[in-house]
Amino acid sequence: MEKLIIRGGRPLRGTVAVAGSKNAALPIMAACLLTDEPVVLEGVPRLADVDTLANVLDGLGMSSVRLPTDSLHLVVTEAGRCEADPDLVRRMRASFCVLGPLVARRGYARVALPGGCKIGDRPVDLHLKGLAALGADITIENDEVTARARKLRGAAIDLAGERGSSVTGTCNVMSAAVLAEGDTWIDGAAREPEVLDLGNFLRELGAQIDGLGTSRIHVRGVPQLGGATYRIIPDRIEAATLMTAAAVTRGDLTLKNARRSHLTAVISKLRQIGLTIDGDRQVVTVHGDRPFRATEIIAMPYPGVPTDVQAQLTALLAITPGTSTVRDDVFPERFQHNAELRRMGAQIRQSGNAASISGVPSLVGAEVTATDLRASAALVLAALTARGQTTVRHINHLDRGYERLDLKLAAVGADIVRVSEESQERRAA
Ligand code: EPZ
Repeated sequence: MEKLIIRGGRPLRGTVAVAGSKNAALPIMAACLLTDEPVVLEGVPRLADVDTLANVLDGLGMSSVRLPTDSLHLVVTEAGRCEADPDLVRRMRASFCVLGPLVARRGYARVALPGGCKIGDRPVDLHLKGLAALGADITIENDEVTARARKLRGAAIDLAGERGSSVTGTCNVMSAAVLAEGDTWIDGAAREPEVLDLGNFLRELGAQIDGLGTSRIHVRGVPQLGGATYRIIPDRIEAATLMTAAAVTRGDLTLKNARRSHLTAVISKLRQIGLTIDGDRQVVTVHGDRPFRATEIIAMPYPGVPTDVQAQLTALLAITPGTSTVRDDVFPERFQHNAELRRMGAQIRQSGNAASISGVPSLVGAEVTATDLRASAALVLAALTARGQTTVRHINHLDRGYERLDLKLAAVGADIVRVSEESQERRAA
């Protein structure tokens, strides 16, 4: 296990490149099971979650080879394997996205109920409802889902759940519908850019899909798909995290490979707080030289402020004068980071799915523990602004979703080193 040691108070300055999107890459990798032709995915981030899914796919007869660039070459070599390794699947949520492609292409799938970040209740009822509507016969036994179908058939499906649409649920069902016989309409579809990216990828393979980016997706089934070379969109959550890092350190950062149109809600919130944000379609510059103001943040489905940046924005509001509120309408229990932020001097009161944050002039270094991916990022940001030294433990969570965030931050001026918990040995940073 490794930890980060961060000495705060150094403004970040310079240029940093945003990696490809984790949450787009994972369902797209799973969707490669739909074709026998080779696929090259460009812009695949080097992350623990990508490696775990590659191992799941390997067990399902798909080879994935890293090319010297940021690309991944995937091809099915053995199409008879339909049972995903339950231990690997339980490590991450997105591995459940193999279910739809497997049952659509191979007629049978056994996939464990997935794990993933501990951020509250994470059911899969919408995934299963959608696949059942397409004609899959679904049973759950011993925490494993079995789906069978000789041939899926198009259907009208409503995927809207109590908390809105499901991102990976839409991915799973849309991927399966691509090879179903006839037309499928998915109402209540998620509109997140990662769903759009999967849809665009499937279209490159030959799928017929309309309505991407809206809550009504129409899929016209095709008998088979081909191969493609496809570039994954930039990671909007990494971009938002880096923008917030610039803010908390009152720095001056330029982000390359940032898709500005995917960041509209975050940019407008950061501007409201007091950041100056410029740039063009692919570049975002952030200047943190003006006074900050308290605000209200409600995390909600796209195009709202994403739940995946709620924790990082809380770290910023912790040092923003006045009283701010943060509510999460997607994962109402996603507030584990607040207990750790309090250890650094943040004044946060929690009530149900909302937190009230009274800004303090500065945070102080402490020993804190990462509990999930975005909570880890929030703790790193808090540490960058805190007085003194912070140790962030359990950064295995961070490495699941950020491509060496420590190295990126060090390159723009952060005092941050990665150390092994056991030996205390300093590693390159
Ligand atoms: C995706 O998770 C992301 N993960 C999450 O990112 C992200 O927080 C989330 O979407 C919301 O944007 C990946 O893309 C791999 P949901 P997902 O299904 O698809 C409820 C990160 O930090 N729901 O859209 O699992 C659910 O409980 C991760 O990168 C059902 O009720 O989320 C939640 O309240 C963490 N039934 C809401 O819908 C279902 O069958 C949205 O969840 C599915 C979900």
